[in-house]
Amino acid sequence: MAKGDLGIDLGTASFIVYQKGKGIVLYEPSVVTVSRKTGEIIAVGEDARKMIGKTHKDLVAIKPMKDGVIANYKVIEAVLREFFKRTIGKFKFFKPEVVIGVPTKITSVEKRAVFEASISAGARKVHIVSEPLAAAIGAGIDVTKSEGSMVIDIGGGTTDIAVISLGGIVVGDSIKVAGTTMDEAIVKYVKKKYGLVIGETTAEEIKKNIGKVHPDYDTFEMEIRGRDAVSGLPRTDVINSDDVMEAIRPAINTIVTKLKAILEITPPELASDIIENGIILTGGGSLIRGIDRAIEEEIGVKAMTTEDPIMSVAKGTGILLDDKQLLQTVAETYER
Ligand SMILES: Nc1ncnc2c1ncn2[C@@H]1O[C@H](COP(=O)(O)OP(=O)(O)OP(=O)(O)O)[C@@H](O)[C@H]1O
Ligand SMILES: [Mg+2]
Repeated sequence: MAKGDLGIDLGTASFIVYQKGKGIVLYEPSVVTVSRKTGEIIAVGEDARKMIGKTHKDLVAIKPMKDGVIANYKVIEAVLREFFKRTIGKFKFFKPEVVIGVPTKITSVEKRAVFEASISAGARKVHIVSEPLAAAIGAGIDVTKSEGSMVIDIGGGTTDIAVISLGGIVVGDSIKVAGTTMDEAIVKYVKKKYGLVIGETTAEEIKKNIGKVHPDYDTFEMEIRGRDAVSGLPRTDVINSDDVMEAIRPAINTIVTKLKAILEITPPELASDIIENGIILTGGGSLIRGIDRAIEEEIGVKAMTTEDPIMSVAKGTGILLDDKQLLQTVAETYER
């Protein structure tokens, strides 16, 4: 592949682009602002995020990825075009080859749509790879060996669980319980316990700053600003890590239950590999303190968070840009 070719993770929370020969070149929130009147894309990523709540009526902020799947292909096409422009520049003669991570549950029609969107945006060739596979590759796992590995990718919109062997996903599933679910749970909890109405952005900050999911971890406090649920007036309150743990417990339980269900249908040889080698945790949601411990205690199998888990999928697509043979094994290639 040529220098300049791109690996792309279109996530619910962020868009990440890896450029061959350079590494991660873009890391932007997955938000786009669009003109209501003309349908024109006004801003992509951080620029768009800054406009939220501050724009005039004609502009609307869109999250083109919802629950881990592409909700709006026209917008994604524009996003890809913008990313091609930002990374490759306006060289009309160079059309990049791209590797794109997609959710496990994507249908063949949706894959086709990802391909069409990429081609219209200016790509020459499109390789589509399942996100958990890309994440495992990005985490440095040899996915082609016959030994089984288990990967849990806790993202913004979805948690993907996959048992990988011989370059493919043997068993796996995806649930719509992930980082955003935790934020929503914190909003509800704070309203119920403290009578304070906060937004999801505040909830996310709380989760990232003081969140934990295992009682043995330190408890911290954080002062938060919100609106009193009764008087409607602004006020502050103090919440702590135990509140977060309590609030997000149902979400963690759902993930653990799914994990158990998948282990139960995993072929016994692969299951014994997993018991021996452990479970790999990736995605931004795996950064919450104590999630490895919590999973370990519930399942009885060692769980390890990868280094830089938010970047795993993008890094995996980057590795694939350099390894044609592996790419052929794990990806589906579309060309016009
Ligand atoms: N330190 C942290 N502690 C807890 N959660 C975190 C932390 N940092 C990021 N997150 C959460 O990780 C999630 C984003 O993870 P990631 O970037 O892997 O998602 P994504 O790939 O965009 O989404 P998806 O894979 O679902 O489409 C967000 O919900 C964010 O709040
Ligand atoms: Mg992801």
